[in-house]
Amino acid sequence: MNQYDDQKISVSPILIGLMGSGKSSIGRRLARHLQLPLIDLDEYIVEKAGRSIPEIFERDGEPAFRQMETAALREVLGQHAVIATGGGIVMAEENRKLLASHPPVIWLKASPEFLADRIDGDSNRPLIAAGDTLKKLQALAAIRYPLYEQCADFILPRGDMKKPQALQTIIEYLAHWQATQ
Ligand code: S3P
Repeated sequence: MNQYDDQKISVSPILIGLMGSGKSSIGRRLARHLQLPLIDLDEYIVEKAGRSIPEIFERDGEPAFRQMETAALREVLGQHAVIATGGGIVMAEENRKLLASHPPVIWLKASPEFLADRIDGDSNRPLIAAGDTLKKLQALAAIRYPLYEQCADFILPRGDMKKPQALQTIIEYLAHWQATQ
């Protein structure tokens, strides 16, 4: 129980963070709690393209995937939903501007070490499909952490928390955010 329990939270939060940080799974729990649909941007792209993320990377290339990602982001922003983005969403300046105009944006911050165990060998993630997962995540983190930070209205230290506590922390933040708008 907390001071926000009986308030209706009516926001459309966007989750960002490296792959494996729990955007989809925490997003699902958050959407259920807020009684909102979850829009998973990767799933949205896959459905539209009619092929999997690895297929898109292989056949069309990463730049084409990034264009699809920006188009998808534009299409879903503004909907009353929880939006879980792909880990690379912050790379394009255009996307960062879009995110900035649709708060609140929540960064599920997790270290490469925390993530490496969780996603090692995941064949659905082309950027870590081959080679040393930890090294790749460290390289991505070095580039992306400052961008996530720049985009985030709230930072959730993901590694320190189990999912129920992470969910509760986000809900409390959202209630606070709403109360201060
Ligand atoms: C990517 C992350 C993936 C997916 C694509 C590229 C990235 O999403 O969009 O494989 O650049 O970090 P998840 O973060 O949901 O795994």
